[in-house]
Order: sequence, then C-alpha cells, then structure tokens
Amino acid sequence: MTYTIALNFEDGVSRFIQCNANEKVLDAAYRQQINLPMDCSDGVCGTCKCQCESGRFDLGDDYLEDALSDSEREQNMVLTCQMVPESDCIITVPMASSLCKTAQQCFQTSITNINALSPTTLELTLECAETEIHFLSGQYVNLSTAQGDITRPYSFSNLPGSSTLTFLIKNVPNGAMSGYLTQQAKPGDTMTITGPQGSFYLREVTRPLLLLAGGTGLAPMLSILYSLQQRASSMPIHLLYGVSKDCDRVKSDVLTELTQQLPNFTFQLCVSDPTTSEPLTGHITDHLRPEHLHGGDVDIYLCGPPTMVESVIATLKEQQIAPTNFYYEKFTPQITAEQV
Ligand SMILES: Cc1cc2nc3c(=O)[nH]c(=O)nc-3n(C[C@H](O)[C@H](O)[C@H](O)COP(=O)(O)OP(=O)(O)OC[C@H]3O[C@@H](n4cnc5c(N)ncnc54)[C@H](O)[C@@H]3O)c2cc1C
Ligand code: FES
Repeated sequence: MTYTIALNFEDGVSRFIQCNANEKVLDAAYRQQINLPMDCSDGVCGTCKCQCESGRFDLGDDYLEDALSDSEREQNMVLTCQMVPESDCIITVPMASSLCKTAQQCFQTSITNINALSPTTLELTLECAETEIHFLSGQYVNLSTAQGDITRPYSFSNLPGSSTLTFLIKNVPNGAMSGYLTQQAKPGDTMTITGPQGSFYLREVTRPLLLLAGGTGLAPMLSILYSLQQRASSMPIHLLYGVSKDCDRVKSDVLTELTQQLPNFTFQLCVSDPTTSEPLTGHITDHLRPEHLHGGDVDIYLCGPPTMVESVIATLKEQQIAPTNFYYEKFTPQITAEQV
C-alpha cells in the first residue's frame, strides 16, 4: 500500500511523493530527493514541523512536547520525522522549495487533440509519455510551446493521477497561445508543462460546497467534481456556471452526467446575454440563493476572469455573506511586452 503525499512549499511549488506503508514522511521525501527541513529526525527538536491540511496519519507518541505541543497537534501540526500516513495527505511546508533542494517539475508532453468546443473555447488534450501527473484538483501548470516562445498558465480540467491531461482554453482574439493552438499546433507536437502550482485546490470536504465558475473557469471545477465523484461524496454541491452567450456554454453533457453520479450535485447555467432562452440571465452574482449558501456553513470555490471574481467578492461583502471557507483563482492575463 502506498499513499500519495502532496508537499506544498511556501513559494507555491507543489511536489508529490509516494509514501510506503509504515514509512515516515521525512524518509519518503528523502528517498525521493526532497530534503524536508530536519535536524534530529527523532521527535526532539521540532525543526520538521509542518501543517497537515488533510488526510489521516499516525504521529505516535515518541516525540517531546517541546517539539510539538498538544495544542499544535490539535491544530493538525505534524512532525514529518514521526508522521506515518494512513491515507493520501496534503502537507504545507513552511519553507521555499529551493531550500529543500527541490523545484518545480517540468514534463514533456505531446498534443493528442485540440477540439473547438464552442466559438470561444478550445479543449486541449496532452499525453505525457513519461509518467502520470499528480496535482490537486483546482491547480494549474505553465504550458509552453516547443520553442519556448509562448508560456501561459492553465488549470487542469481532468482527474489527477493520469498521463492524459485536459485543459479548457479561452480562444482570445489575437492571443498568443490562442493563435498558436488554433493556427499552428497539430497532434504530435510537443508542449512542456511546468508545475503543478497554486493554492486554489479542493480541501477536505466537511460541509456543503458552492462552486462559482465564469467561462473557462469551469476547468478547475470539472477537476474538482471528478475528484468528488471519485471520493463518492454525498455532500450537497451546487455549481453556478456563468457564460456571456448561449454559444459559449461547454461540457453540459458532462455536467448532466455528473448529476447522476454525484447524488447531491446540482448545477445551473447563467447567461449574461439578455436574449438567452436560459432561465437564469445576468451575472452569477444575481443568483446567489440562500439554499446554496446554507446560512454561511458552506465552502465557496470561485474561478474565472478577474472582473467576475472581483464582482463576486464585492457582492459577498455587500450582502454580508461570510462563508466558512472561501477560495478563489483569477485568470489574470499575462502582461505582454507590447502592453508594458
Ligand atoms: C493561475 C491562472 C490559471 C489560468 N487558467 C486558465 C484556464 O484554465 N483557461 C483559460 O482559458 N485561461 C486560463 N488562464 C488565463 C490564460 O493563462 C491566458 O491569459 C489566456 O488564455 C490568454 O492567453 P493568450 O496567449 O491566448 O492571449 P494573450 O496573448 O495573453 O492576450 C492577448 C490580448 O487579449 C487580452 N486577454 C487575455 N485574456 C483575455 C480574456 N480572457 N478575455 C479578454 N481579453 C483577454 C490580453 O490582455 C491581451 O491584450 C489562467 C491564468 C492564470 C493566472
Ligand atoms: S527533525 Fe527534529 S523533531 Fe523532527
């Protein structure tokens, strides 16, 4: 039995290691060339103290109170030199990846498909021949052309742990990556991915979820929904998905299928164009309903263009909605040389 342990470093780098049964996290990391902070490796000094964000583990009691106090233990602080995982875990390491002699990983992939799902959205499928790619649902990678002349961040839309990777990419008029993918790229071409990265990812699910997606902000939500499906989650989950025009909607079939596989999952589409025949028009901020907010006992995940994210943040503030947890990702465009 092995467990996948995500190590999230202070500088946004995520690395994934495999931990064998009865193996301590510090030893597993070292075996995989990651030198986590340590000194005594014996539960005495506290140098290896990290935060465990999710997962089950055994810490034993062979460590000193000076190294880890009871109140720290209650707050899910751990000593990696003592911690033996009993499930997959996410651990926050309070140190930059370079100080742990590790860094962002780079993978060579090849394009298997570029599919225009709508006039404004492309689905890019890549295959990584070397290995399966681990990430936390919601995270992104930097995607570069073979020549390395264009690099842009994109969020995974697939389930973690596969060698087949998918992305939903907005086809931006005159966009560098959009232009490359629509006019130049073809199956078999190489692309490099660097990552995974980002603090927008699915946390432990202990209360209802409200997912708010604008445009291709649906990508990380799909990955999150696939993970929830894999965990057979029965928590209420509602997705509010906003697009500009009817023709911009994508993946309706997948979302409908997910409502059958995830017992408490519902979704609504909201179209800004007032001529739409969809029941919900306007912006998603017009449709934040009490039944999806659970009196604040809800975790909100929000992703999309910066204007949409900012307007949701402002609306939550105005309406004094204070969710228990609130995570968001803005798809901020890169400032190009011409714009500087
Ligand atoms: C963390 C992160 C994750 C991201 N994940 C995704 C993702 O999963 N899917 C996705 O589609 N995008 C995502 N983005 C945005 C993406 O990285 C690019 O910015 C976007 O795809 C445009 O790239 P481009 O090279 O085609 O256009 P660029 O050459 O970068 O831009 C060309 C022009 O269009 C403008 N522009 C750029 N984006 C938009 C836009 N959305 N609407 C209107 N004008 C725009 C630019 O300001 C510029 O003037 C993400 C961004 C971040 C920061
Ligand atoms: S390295 Fe000293 S307590 Fe873990």
